[in-house]
Amino acid sequence: MSEIITVIAPVNIAVIKYWGKRDEDLILPLNDSVSATLDTNIMCAKTSVCARPEFKEDGIWLNGKKESFYSPRLQNCLREIKARAAAEKSVTEDFLQWKVHVCSENNFPTAAGLASSAAGYACLVTALAKLYKVKSDVSSIARLGSGSACRSVYGGFVRWHAGTNTDGSDSVATQIADQTHWPEMQALILVAGDTKKKTSSTVGMRIAVETSELLKHRIKYCVPQRTEEIIQAIKERDFSKFAEITMKDSNQFHAVCLDSYPPCVYMTDVSHLVSYVIHKYNEISGSIKVAYTFDAGPNACLYLLEKDVPQVISLIRHIFPSSNPDKFVTGLQSKEEALSPVFL
Ligand code: DP6
Repeated sequence: MSEIITVIAPVNIAVIKYWGKRDEDLILPLNDSVSATLDTNIMCAKTSVCARPEFKEDGIWLNGKKESFYSPRLQNCLREIKARAAAEKSVTEDFLQWKVHVCSENNFPTAAGLASSAAGYACLVTALAKLYKVKSDVSSIARLGSGSACRSVYGGFVRWHAGTNTDGSDSVATQIADQTHWPEMQALILVAGDTKKKTSSTVGMRIAVETSELLKHRIKYCVPQRTEEIIQAIKERDFSKFAEITMKDSNQFHAVCLDSYPPCVYMTDVSHLVSYVIHKYNEISGSIKVAYTFDAGPNACLYLLEKDVPQVISLIRHIFPSSNPDKFVTGLQSKEEALSPVFL
């Protein structure tokens, strides 16, 4: 009988967005992306796994509800972890034959554009890797669950290299800097809506790849330079450069979504109001103090420095009087801090 392994995995929020695949099965992206992994005490995925000889079949429970294990992405992750374990001879042949049970929960809205699949698959793959005692890097296996999940395998600032190999062996995540590198960096999540998005990221990016001219331009002429520049900004702790690139990349990603045919609209009036307010605030401050970024949903992630947190909290309270901003700021992944969303 195996022990029960439980793992908690953090969400990551991209500052250079991944949008578009060159291989749908292996989940190989068209471009490199960069993200920060947020602290997780409250906003995270939690997964328990165990393998037993008496289990008749593989099973998975998500937020308490039994789901089918026969999703290709889930199957790919389990198959690859077992293949690694076999190659590393980390467990016995018998153990590899036993069926697994997986129990997973998110403590934030699933599929509302809050990187839930990233945390979910990072968590699942890390838990399975522990169960099967796999020692090597598992970011490329997390990638098979959901592209952005490979970045949640590491803390701090992370780059997912698109890679060039057709088998995806070089499409892996690496850490740019750990969470201690820029301790003043904070993130603030503003939840503008927690309903399931109309078009999933997977479908949205497929439509973009098939129809958007802007996406081609973005991949060729914008992302490579931006990636190098933002990595430089992170290394030099240059907040204003970091923030400018973050906002420009979020805007271009949503422009690509609108340039898709049919268009994918993820931002709402509330999201646009947040973006407007941040630009006005930066303008009045005389320098860039806050950056926004929006994933495939209406919710904002604000990046800002610790010294500016009190003023930005007052601003959010003022613009959205019914929000509860008492418990909503986080640093990058570290053990002490807690993260909880603010509802606008
Ligand atoms: C907008 O990783 O959810 O959050 O690989 O199809 O599962 P799949 O997509 P997913 O896409 C995330 C897109 C994004 C940008 C990002 O996180 O880089």
